[in-house]
Amino acid sequence: MEKRIFIIEYQKGSDKGFDGFRPDSKPILMAIRETTTLEREIVFYRPNKKYELLEYLKENAYAVISRINPGNLKEVDEYFQFLKALSNVGVEVHTHPDVMINLDFKDILAKLKGTKLGDDDTYFYHTYTDFVSKFPTDLDKYGIRVLKTNYGSTGEGVYLVSKKEDGSIFTVEAVNNEKFYFDDITEFLHKFEANFEPDNENAAYFQGKAGFVGCRYLERIAEGEIRVLLVMDKLVSVVHKKPQEGEFSATLFSGAKYNYESPDDPKWKDVVKLTKDGLKDIKPYLSGQSYPLLWTMDYIMDYDKDGKDIYVLSEINCSCVGITTQMEFAKDVAKVFKKKFKK
Ligand SMILES: Nc1ncnc2c1ncn2[C@@H]1O[C@H](COP(=O)(O)OP(=O)(O)O)[C@@H](O)[C@H]1O
Ligand SMILES: [Mg+2]
Repeated sequence: MEKRIFIIEYQKGSDKGFDGFRPDSKPILMAIRETTTLEREIVFYRPNKKYELLEYLKENAYAVISRINPGNLKEVDEYFQFLKALSNVGVEVHTHPDVMINLDFKDILAKLKGTKLGDDDTYFYHTYTDFVSKFPTDLDKYGIRVLKTNYGSTGEGVYLVSKKEDGSIFTVEAVNNEKFYFDDITEFLHKFEANFEPDNENAAYFQGKAGFVGCRYLERIAEGEIRVLLVMDKLVSVVHKKPQEGEFSATLFSGAKYNYESPDDPKWKDVVKLTKDGLKDIKPYLSGQSYPLLWTMDYIMDYDKDGKDIYVLSEINCSCVGITTQMEFAKDVAKVFKKKFKK
């Protein structure tokens, strides 16, 4: 039988439609059917059946599109090894785990320092010891800082930390705008220790990945986040995500508003240029693989020293970008396979 293209989903999760699949999976496969000769299938990844699935995919898959938010998986490292095993036998894997491990984690922000995409005031605190020795000085610089857990999504583990004149500390978590108070930096550091998980020595992929990335607080988050949506190296949309009035979080769950616009709209020309030029700085982190099939670069606005608008990269998402509200992008995804499998 001819090789086919597979979408891999997790069997559980809050991202499912009425039929148990992600609402954007079937539209992506339909678009592939319309443009290519590839046969299509959706499978579920079950950790206790992974060897059987691996054999099945090795035998039948030309390509797999992973549509699992690794945040939903307990055994992420295992799942990455599973994808790697497929790639090793020649199956095309989207997004390749070597790429996800580099781009989907917040430490990419520290790695991009020195390029146009990176902000120099970014630092990756890999260990709690490092955090205790460096964070208090970093916080004192502006009295306010953002901490992001290296691997998180939807605002979980992203904290706005500020120091008041009396030395007390105030934090807001982006997931739900939940607020906490601490008497002083010592109490804050002490309570924050629990957020640092030790490295798992058996992990193949996740070595050196525990920790938090510290970023400059960008007050223009009040104007929203600018999301550039890409299919491989092609920009397909610019999404303006605006937080609720007076709030910090621009995640959809927290009530932020999303507007989809064309990358050809002149108002986005600077961020489009920054993204296109920035692709070459991202390339070294692809480990020889292609750019992700469907991915995003999120920016927050700031002013440069002359008061001109600039865009600061705030995260990259490439593990499982949802297009449920914008199904027309399924066509762009399908086009990627058209070259080889044109109808
Ligand atoms: N440097 C920053 N300055 C101000 N707000 C920020 C900053 N970084 C993130 N945020 C806010 O926190 C939210 C979550 O952070 P983000 O980096 O997007 O992580 P994730 O979406 O993976 O949880 C953003 O949507 C934004 O509202
Ligand atoms: Mg985000």
